[in-house]
Amino acid sequence: MPDLAVVTGALSYTGRAVARELRARGLALRTLTNRRVPLAPLDGTPRIEARPLQFEDPSALEDALRGARLLVNTYWVRYPFVGVSIERAVENTEVLLQAARRAGVTRVVHISVSNPSLRSKLGYYRGKAIVEERVHACGLPFAIVRPTLIVGEHDILVNNIAWFLRSFPIFAMPGSGHYRLQPITLDDVGRIVADAALLDESVTLDAAGPEVMTFEELVRAIAAATGQQARILHVPPWFALGLIRAVGWILREVILSREELAGLMEELLVSHEPPRGTESVRIWLASHGDQLGRRYAAELARRRLVDTIFK
Ligand SMILES: NC(=O)c1ccc[n+]([C@@H]2O[C@H](COP(=O)([O-])OP(=O)(O)OC[C@H]3O[C@@H](n4cnc5c(N)ncnc54)[C@H](OP(=O)(O)O)[C@@H]3O)[C@@H](O)[C@H]2O)c1
Repeated sequence: MPDLAVVTGALSYTGRAVARELRARGLALRTLTNRRVPLAPLDGTPRIEARPLQFEDPSALEDALRGARLLVNTYWVRYPFVGVSIERAVENTEVLLQAARRAGVTRVVHISVSNPSLRSKLGYYRGKAIVEERVHACGLPFAIVRPTLIVGEHDILVNNIAWFLRSFPIFAMPGSGHYRLQPITLDDVGRIVADAALLDESVTLDAAGPEVMTFEELVRAIAAATGQQARILHVPPWFALGLIRAVGWILREVILSREELAGLMEELLVSHEPPRGTESVRIWLASHGDQLGRRYAAELARRRLVDTIFK
């Protein structure tokens, strides 16, 4: 029997790429998720066994983890919504880690973010740093992987930048647009996480791509890939956020949170380690531009649907 890996969110974004890589390395898979329907078809792979990701029932989580050698945790919330604060997400992650320990899991792989910090004013980055401490403290060998911005099929941010470029004649750039980021492809992240999963020692490593670019260069690359004119108008960040909120109000979505914009402008999506990603995001964009931004990638709508299904 192959070793069993439990991956949270294997029907969603990063978890799906990790699951694919682990399966290619011969592991059997189970996922913890609240989805009934995958975000995208699982590339012709066999159906994956799914159990609910319900933190209110730790013993059910423990049952779902029993027999697994490995837990890959992708669980997190982008911003507080649908009753889940960052503090709640930290505590939920602790429940998951303790369930894994009780179930006899022997290695945890945790997906964090580049540049987490206990001193950060941004709840997302501070929460990630607290969870990293919890991973250290849980007593199991671990790999912590810290991605920058993950670019791939069914992503939200890049798709929605493309949607804005397709939908509006002008793109309101927050501030100078000269702040840098170091995006990485989803396939590279899947590979880096699966490699880290199969190590024996505890490690903490960044997952960043080979190119550093400014945010304006990223927007221009997306515009070129989608065949749109990039008519960029530089506006104060507060004004850009106001516009984004107004469109979000119409769509009933949080398009980009204030903290996400602050993290971007503080260049927290740049790694300070040699890049482990090998694929060019620019090339990925150029070859996927036709599909990008055809539809707004609605995150809240899909979570509301999940909530409805489980009530
Ligand atoms: N995407 C990026 O560019 C990026 C960059 C840096 C770090 N990361 C980190 O990578 C990890 C995976 O992120 P992702 O973008 O790939 O996310 P994702 O696949 O949409 O979600 C990951 C997991 O979290 C669960 N989840 C998300 N929001 C939730 C909510 N409000 N309530 C309950 N469960 C929720 C999902 O549940 P379901 O299975 O039910 O969907 C899934 O199991 C996260 O830790 C994230 O912080 C992502």
